[in-house]
Amino acid sequence: MPRRSLTVARRRACALALGALLAAPACTLGAPDGAQISTQGANGAPACVTCHGAKGEGNPSAGFPRLAGLGAKYLTEQLDAMADGGRVSPIMKATAQALDPAQRQAVAAYYASLPAPLDTDKLAATAMGRAAPADTGAWLATRGAWDKNVPACNQCHGPGGIGVGDNFPALAGQSAAYISGQLRAWRQGQRPPGPLGLMPAVATRLTDAEIDAVSAYYAGLPQAAEQLAAQAAAPGAKQ
Ligand code: HEC
Ligand code: HEC
Repeated sequence: MPRRSLTVARRRACALALGALLAAPACTLGAPDGAQISTQGANGAPACVTCHGAKGEGNPSAGFPRLAGLGAKYLTEQLDAMADGGRVSPIMKATAQALDPAQRQAVAAYYASLPAPLDTDKLAATAMGRAAPADTGAWLATRGAWDKNVPACNQCHGPGGIGVGDNFPALAGQSAAYISGQLRAWRQGQRPPGPLGLMPAVATRLTDAEIDAVSAYYAGLPQAAEQLAAQAAAPGAKQ
């Protein structure tokens, strides 16, 4: 609501300024409106909602990642990287380039402010259970592969992959195709190293089979978390 009334206020201020024949800068001084960019696009960039969903929830079956609740700094850096080509994304490049830096920042802040559609308590509970060593995805996520210096993904991405702060994006519920695509992009130098080069170090140590397993694990985790919670709540479940 406040966001909308701000926009209205800005439009009114612009109308007044124009009415008084003041110079146009009075109308462009206001910060870009991230919510408006998401629904209407800007400078020829298409509306983000078409692919990333009305609430930034993403579209896993199409491989469009969720943006809601990811860190503002993280999202801005990704838009900058996709614009300058450091992060190779044929589908996002022109869109990211069309937005100026202030618009990228505004739309990133908007998506960061939307609630992540994740049940963090239920997801965190999945990290408490025991993973079987044969369950490669769960094992990597919760235990890592210390024989090759790969820490558990959850150590940085939070219990259940719920994301931590501004630097560690959530993984739970992103599609397997998207997650594995990003891990492979780091292996191939098609995505900037990010903070401390942590992810290229992880991704280059994983085998293809491990990448596929851990990606499938996080993609299915919200559903697995629901099942786990339902089992725990079922009559006769041990307390
Ligand atoms: C035509 C579909 C489409 C549209 C429209 C679109 N995106 Fe994307 N976006 C994608 C895809 C697909 C990816 C994943 C990167 C890839 O596969 O190349 C992505 C990735 C991203 C990422 C990186 C997410 C992450 O977790 O690292 C951000 C940020 C982003 N988009 C923001 C936007 C914004 C802001 C807009 C609107 C101005 C927008 N996108 C419009 C399809 C789209
Ligand atoms: C030591 C910390 C650390 C560990 C361990 C770690 N990550 Fe990351 N991960 C990061 C950071 C930092 C980023 C953000 C990179 C950036 O800003 O470009 C990231 C980003 C990602 C992304 C991109 C998400 C998106 O929205 O595009 C994926 C996918 C990912 N990590 C998967 C994994 C997996 C799978 C594992 C375990 C095998 C793992 N990570 C372990 C720190 C870590």
